[in-house]
Amino acid sequence: MTATDDVLVIQGDGIGKEVVPAAVRVLEATDAPLRFAAASAGDAVAEERGTPLPQETRERAADADAVLFGAAGETAADVVLPLREAVGSYANVRPARAYPGVDAVKPETDLVIVRENTEGVYSGIESEITDGVTTLTRVVTESASRQIAEFGFEYAAERDASVTVAHKANVMRQTDGTFRDAVAAVAAERDAEYETMLMDAMATDMIQHPESYDVVITPNLAGDVLSDLAAGLVGGLGLLPSANVGSDGGMFEPVHGSAPDIAGEGIANPSATLLSGAMLLDHLGHETAAENVRSAVRSVLSDGPRTPDLGGDASTDAVTDAVVARL
Ligand code: NAI
Ligand code: MG
Repeated sequence: MTATDDVLVIQGDGIGKEVVPAAVRVLEATDAPLRFAAASAGDAVAEERGTPLPQETRERAADADAVLFGAAGETAADVVLPLREAVGSYANVRPARAYPGVDAVKPETDLVIVRENTEGVYSGIESEITDGVTTLTRVVTESASRQIAEFGFEYAAERDASVTVAHKANVMRQTDGTFRDAVAAVAAERDAEYETMLMDAMATDMIQHPESYDVVITPNLAGDVLSDLAAGLVGGLGLLPSANVGSDGGMFEPVHGSAPDIAGEGIANPSATLLSGAMLLDHLGHETAAENVRSAVRSVLSDGPRTPDLGGDASTDAVTDAVVARL
């Protein structure tokens, strides 16, 4: 008998309330043995309960085998960062690939951003030292840098993929110097090859030559920005899934936010969240179900129906129905 995995579902705000139920429907249509429970977080919860992330949600996230998350609105930083911490995540994996049938700026794009998920400028250590003068402390540790490097090189080795490392150690000499040196040490231990690029130059090169990138290991902020850039290359944020990987649990969420401009209209593209669901299945060891979901999503992206962000006129539900029908 296969053990059932507990998945905590947190819809959050805006289109999170539309794309997450779509993903649950698709996961339920696979034969993976999952048990779903719901918890809440986000702007609406903050208004009702005075905090966007109730302690109970945080604890249940830590206990679950996996968390499926939509998006939060203005409270995103107070929800997403602590939730990633609650599931013990140190790596944020964001694949960006173009799909047949979807208009992409660069159809040859097929890369994965492996982003450090715990520190850098997202340390949360900010202050106003005097009126009109604010500071932020960028934290970079050798241990977290080694951890993301080890994860990234292993991820690349499993896929026979090349590695490029983004940094800006020419300016942030100490912090990105630590990052760059830790990556170099891990690569030497593994006898792994890789290239480095300054992260600003990488932004230009990724647009001009996305085909030359496979696995890209980045510090926290750089990975956030470069993955949205990669989304632009393949047809938009509606397509990019992500996995927050930890040593034990994990949280799976679309790269996009709550999209208040289209929330409530039932036209959000569910693909990013469905593909995040596939990453959740992979994480729990249900590789066949994961591949089935990916293949169903690919097929619907290719044949339609499509949501308006991809030039179609279909609803979130119609796209989800089509994916479920293919399972
Ligand atoms: P966003 O990702 O919500 O939206 C950017 C643009 O992409 C909008 O035009 C939106 O309509 C479009 N878009 C995003 N996802 C889409 C989908 N699935 N289908 C079709 N179109 C889609 O980013 P934005 O506008 O910068 O932020 C909106 C809110 O989301 C803010 O309150 C922000 O704090 C929050 N946010 C939350 C995140 C999270 O919870 N992980 C991540 C990013 C933003
Ligand atoms: Mg982002």
